[in-house]
Amino acid sequence: MPISFDEHKKIFKLDTPNTTYAMQVIRHGCLAHLYYGKKLTDNDLGYLIRGINLSFAAYPAEEAPDRSFSFGTTPLEYPAFGIGDFRTPCISVEGADGTGVTDIRYVSHRIYKGKPTLSGLPATYADENEAQTLEIDMKDALTGVVVTLIYTTFENYDAITRSCIVKNCSDSDVSIKRVLSACLDLDTCDYDMITLYGKWALERQIERRRLAHGIQGVESMRGSSSHQQNPFVAIVGKNTDEDNGEAYGMSLVYSSNFTALAEVGELNTTRVVMGINPQNFSWTLSPNESFTAPEVVMVYSDKGIGNMSRTYHRLYRNNLCRGYWKNRRRPILINNWEATYFNFDEKKLLDIAKSASELGIEMFVMDDGWFGQRDSDKRGLGDWFVNENKIKGGLKKLVDDVHTLGMKFGIWFEPEMISEDSDLYRTHPDWCLHVPGRGYSLSRCQLVLDMSRQDVIDYLFERMSSIIGECGIEYVKWDMNRSLTEVSSRLLPPDRQCETAHRYVLGVYQLMERLVSKFPKLLLEGCSGGGGRFDAGMLYCSPQYWTSDDTDALERVRIQYGTSYVYPVSAMGAHVSVCPNEQTGRTVDLNTRGNVAMSGTFGYELDLTKLTDEEKDTIRAQIKEFDEQYDVISYGDQYRLINPFEDNYSAAWMFVSEDKNRAFVTYVQTKTDPNPPMRRLKLKGLDPTKRYIDTQSGVSYMGDTLMNAGINLPMMFGDGKSCTFKFKAQEK
Ligand code: DGJ
Repeated sequence: MPISFDEHKKIFKLDTPNTTYAMQVIRHGCLAHLYYGKKLTDNDLGYLIRGINLSFAAYPAEEAPDRSFSFGTTPLEYPAFGIGDFRTPCISVEGADGTGVTDIRYVSHRIYKGKPTLSGLPATYADENEAQTLEIDMKDALTGVVVTLIYTTFENYDAITRSCIVKNCSDSDVSIKRVLSACLDLDTCDYDMITLYGKWALERQIERRRLAHGIQGVESMRGSSSHQQNPFVAIVGKNTDEDNGEAYGMSLVYSSNFTALAEVGELNTTRVVMGINPQNFSWTLSPNESFTAPEVVMVYSDKGIGNMSRTYHRLYRNNLCRGYWKNRRRPILINNWEATYFNFDEKKLLDIAKSASELGIEMFVMDDGWFGQRDSDKRGLGDWFVNENKIKGGLKKLVDDVHTLGMKFGIWFEPEMISEDSDLYRTHPDWCLHVPGRGYSLSRCQLVLDMSRQDVIDYLFERMSSIIGECGIEYVKWDMNRSLTEVSSRLLPPDRQCETAHRYVLGVYQLMERLVSKFPKLLLEGCSGGGGRFDAGMLYCSPQYWTSDDTDALERVRIQYGTSYVYPVSAMGAHVSVCPNEQTGRTVDLNTRGNVAMSGTFGYELDLTKLTDEEKDTIRAQIKEFDEQYDVISYGDQYRLINPFEDNYSAAWMFVSEDKNRAFVTYVQTKTDPNPPMRRLKLKGLDPTKRYIDTQSGVSYMGDTLMNAGINLPMMFGDGKSCTFKFKAQEK
């Protein structure tokens, strides 16, 4: 029984294979958090809650003269605003009294098999044999609001998901001012916080800081999850490393404004909260209406950060990504963006596609610039009609020609955007986000469509599905190249304007859902100026995401390493591009560019018609290697070996197949050490009792030798050199 309830003690215990989560209904129907961590056999964990008589603590008047209970000193499951807990609250609902004070108490609960879907929102999914769910109803007697806390445990993963539904059970409107998805109250503050920060072309850099008294955390107010901070936080022990120690991960399945905060309070305890950013958010609920908060996926590991990441990878690969391409080999692609930018015609594209097909590349992707008057980033967004001056003979002919080469065809859209210089804007100036009477902000010369409007979504669906359907297109790169400003919808009344950002992202999810429902074999790759919206919400809709506009292999080492803290390599778009690199001017060995891009959804993004014969041979060899290693890389377990954020000279990682019979190791010498030590690389994740053969050298080693003594690394001269190793277990 993964989820149990002790009727007598009123204790809920949620077990996963190696973890336990426990809570208890204590006095006044308060839902207290008891424990989250390594699996426990005891059920009676109520002793963990102790009363404290603390000056300045507020206690319910009905408790007087006893002062030992306060919401503010109790670890809580879902803290409400205004009733004596001065730490960060999860919920505040404004009823008829206008106060925002909210007081939710336990009413009832249900435990059932399986996992519910979340209306309009992405979420992990599971069938009846894979998961169990607990729903706890908490009621605010004064406003009549019922908050249902939802917890799901997975049979095979050390993961617990949380979200909640707020329902207005009264007969007048209420306004939600704040509704976070999860809270985790920990009983010490002896932790570090890890977050993934960045900017355009430098996403998901790893940052680790010591928790301090007060509030620390990360947020986005950009209308997307953002390049700048990822909706993920890990709270780890001070000595936790890749393989040892405690790690609590919290990952939000949401692609818009978020907050993820850790607050260390006066009692040296830590509260971690995550959910929709309350800034400029509110939501009016009429009687009987409900609001669903996005899901948080919590993972606990007592075996370090690496184990936490592998849990996320497996869960997201198998129970978040969906559809035809979920665990299917994705086509190796060639994208024309860095090869041509806006300067192309159908002949140029076909030349690139022909060169690609000769090398064994399987899909041609036509990037930005094929529609409307789109000859630069100044115009054309929204006019999703092919520009026949560029694509002479029409799009269908080009797609057919590419199909004749034996390749699939992919296309670029930026559905959420509109250029001022476009027919769409001239016809529907009110379709963009803007505040009447105010100036407005441009970014990359463009405005943002109001995706909270159904007419906008219907227009986009009609345009996109016509083009995809009529031409037989197999892949869409869905781009999004600016943050949201002047967030306001012309269709919402003043008291609902603060709903716009959330309604916007619901509109994005709806359009993606309609497209993949209409074209079940369509492969969607998300993109936001690279990895600006690389989050679990997007992976529910698109099983792969363009990781970064920075295609420099050495920058990518760090970007992909940071991304792997949460997201699987099967989701990371990674391409070999030209050198000197277009973003950094750096020249890196073609071999290394291939080795780095292979740890992702592999592809190329350069003018293949300009390659030398030697370069073509290298690419053929890369494609062969990727083909051979595809399943180990995409479905294997990833182990990080050398951290490029800590090591000035190198990075390394490896993949081990589930049966531990195969391994693929990548070592990158990011910088030459002029007087290098003899380096050895200790492998991880192998079966110590199996004998493995290095398939290149023919030398064999026991698994325990590879993991404890390691392999000798070759001496390589020059920055940005790399090598790979392939191991196969020998038959016993
Ligand atoms: C930003 C993307 O990240 C690039 O790959 C490319 O598609 C451009 N947009 C096109 O405008």
